[in-house]
Amino acid sequence: MDNKPQWAQEALEKICRKMPAAMEKARQCDFIPYTVSEGQWQPGPIDGICWWTNGFWPASMWQLYAATGEEAYLREARRAEEMLDAAFADFPHLHHDVGFMWRISTGFDYELTGNQTSWARTVFAANLLAGRFNPNGFIRAWNGECTGWAIIDCMMNLSILYWASEQTRDPRFRLIAQRHADTVIRHFIRDDGTAEHIVIFDPETGAVLDKPGGQGYAPGSVWSRGQGWALYGFAIAARHTGEARYLETSRRVADNFIAAVGEDWLPDCDFRQPKSPIIKDDCAGAIAACGMLELAELVDEEAGRKYRDAAEKLLRALAEQHVDWSEEYPALLTHCTGAYHNESDRHIAMTYGDYYFIEGVARLLGKPVCRW
Ligand code: GLY
Repeated sequence: MDNKPQWAQEALEKICRKMPAAMEKARQCDFIPYTVSEGQWQPGPIDGICWWTNGFWPASMWQLYAATGEEAYLREARRAEEMLDAAFADFPHLHHDVGFMWRISTGFDYELTGNQTSWARTVFAANLLAGRFNPNGFIRAWNGECTGWAIIDCMMNLSILYWASEQTRDPRFRLIAQRHADTVIRHFIRDDGTAEHIVIFDPETGAVLDKPGGQGYAPGSVWSRGQGWALYGFAIAARHTGEARYLETSRRVADNFIAAVGEDWLPDCDFRQPKSPIIKDDCAGAIAACGMLELAELVDEEAGRKYRDAAEKLLRALAEQHVDWSEEYPALLTHCTGAYHNESDRHIAMTYGDYYFIEGVARLLGKPVCRW
């Protein structure tokens, strides 16, 4: 296989051609873009500035800045980063996704520009995430009554904890991340290499109380985006810690994903959903592709080829079938799905799907990329 596929080069060029119009539309909004309706950006449905995806738009800008050196991306990333400061002041609405929100917005700013204010914002967010740790071995996901709830998505949030330990030379953050990751191996990862979405623990004792269905089809099913969170999250854990058990877990989930995805390489929302209706989730494909590209760098050459090949197929299927390349549509992907049973957010745009698509294309091309 070509190491720098031509289709990916063309995809990056087309992304860059679309972006000036997308950024102009974003500048007209008083929110950070999440989805699209009638050709215009729309905000997240709840939580205001604390909406969990609000780091992804600036993160896309940073990846494009890293890939092209174009200052317009830096300016737009900074504009969104400053809007995010209001979320710190709205602490009651923050949740475990502070990892997503600041690791790849302010964290990437610091990495690319050395901006000390961004560094402080990122360390502050890491402290907020560490503060959600339950000493029974898990990070609490959501607020309200969900005192013992942990979800697979948090495997990606752990990245900010590894980063904080590396930056501050204080192991507490990494140790919390590893305690959580070890709990996930024990209670989320099934024998067949698939991952639960939600596990509810007794917050006093850590005993497992329930494994309900989440955003996938049903309890015991295989929510494809959750598989992506697990496989990429464990690959990141392996890179930051060097621990073989995280690498092995990531590989098991990745192998299962490859076996389940189907010949079109466009993941169903749930790998155990009924044949009809056909519900796809582009986010799952883009996240899993980035996870596989990360994995490819951590394993031997033969396994690396397998994961890179699968990642390329996932991204190419999106580029050729599920991206709207027109300038009227400010996003990229068209078939992202929030949750299997929620018809209102089925086959829509989502800025986090777009983020992973951009990261994946840049990685395939060997461009400089910011790492989680
Ligand atoms: N982290 C929430 C989701 O994947 O929908």
